[in-house]
Amino acid sequence: MNEYDSDRIINSLSAHPVKNPADADVVIVNTCAIRDKADHKAVSAIGRYKKYKISNPNLIIGMAGCVAQLYGKKLIKQIPHLDFVIGPREIGKLKELIKDIKDSSKFKKINTSMDIEEIFKVSPYHEEGKINGFVSIQQGCNKKCAYCIVPTVRGSEVNRPLKQILEESRLLIDQGAKELTYIGQTVNSWRYEGEKFYNLLDHLQELDGLERIRFTTSFPRDITSKMVKSMAKNSKVCRQLHLPVQSGSNRVLKMMNRSYTIEWYRESVLKLKESMPDLSLSTDIIVGFSDESEEDFAQTMQLIEDIRFDTIYSFMYSVRPGTPGEKMSSHVNEEIALDRLHRLQLRQREITLENNLEQLNKDFDVLIEGASKNNPKDLFGRTSQNKVVNIRNLDSSYIGKIVKVRTKEAHQNSFVGELI
Ligand code: 5AD
Repeated sequence: MNEYDSDRIINSLSAHPVKNPADADVVIVNTCAIRDKADHKAVSAIGRYKKYKISNPNLIIGMAGCVAQLYGKKLIKQIPHLDFVIGPREIGKLKELIKDIKDSSKFKKINTSMDIEEIFKVSPYHEEGKINGFVSIQQGCNKKCAYCIVPTVRGSEVNRPLKQILEESRLLIDQGAKELTYIGQTVNSWRYEGEKFYNLLDHLQELDGLERIRFTTSFPRDITSKMVKSMAKNSKVCRQLHLPVQSGSNRVLKMMNRSYTIEWYRESVLKLKESMPDLSLSTDIIVGFSDESEEDFAQTMQLIEDIRFDTIYSFMYSVRPGTPGEKMSSHVNEEIALDRLHRLQLRQREITLENNLEQLNKDFDVLIEGASKNNPKDLFGRTSQNKVVNIRNLDSSYIGKIVKVRTKEAHQNSFVGELI
């Protein structure tokens, strides 16, 4: 989501990104407020750019995103070298805002309104020829999860019109994108003028030149039989689903206000796997929420044993200002929460590797994306399940092509494969 917003920021200014901050006219730190750590990181990042402003007083420094939205004016007061803050819904106004600052050297700007009509107006910057891209289909969130700051900083759910989604997809495909990831806080609750998410998948399948469709994040309560059917029948829809469960305990899910039971979650996974046996599942888990007990945590550990996710993003609960969670008592002691997090991550690492080893000597369609991170002579691509596969000594003419590959080595985070 933030990567997408950063690309929209670049486009809204018709800017050319530079590698060295000393060469920039404007520095914008795009921020995330989801956890305490991310929000501290944002403020210290702004601190790092102070020296550039000292050597170039015309440099404009701004903060965008959810931390800017959350603390607005306070940041401007606290950080003298910060020229502006801008919330996630105001990116369309960035050009105007920077012009105002340039026209008046002492001007400080705070743009954090939620009441923006055209929140999807600016499309993201897309590097010509890049194989994958993102398209936002939804802003904000209507779920009221007790731990989550997103509804506060991104506002309530606004679904993007179908026509705009298709137009932006077309634009990216014409610039060379073969794989698009459709993003939103709870994408599968998307609906617009009578069309639902499963219809949207049908429309996307029709896009000429688009090879692969991914989407994230899905909300468990909004997994419907029609959605499962649509995923299974549309050949461009990748066999990958990110389905945050947050906890394996019904007691904790209820405190979190997640609106589904663990039985519902397990049932949905069964339905998905029945229709798509090669579906790769990932999830998010928060440990130490409110008064999570050892018994609650044991249920989370049991869940990962049973489902055997390919990837888990796990976090220690971080209390966020203004959320219902802030008022809940009995926070789990930090040492205990950290210990649970380590146990979860340790076991998951084993499961991930075991799952990868099961995929050894199997054949996959791999979309080649570019030079491998490990060796510039090799190329890498991804399977439909989003697994990274490195292929040795492959020439760059394969970039953008889907090739048949047999896996020959399985590692923790990637495979090595050969063309077949
Ligand atoms: N503390 C810890 N993790 C959180 N997440 C969201 N809010 C919090 C919080 N207050 C996690 C959830 C979510 C992911 C994006 O971040 O697991 O799915």
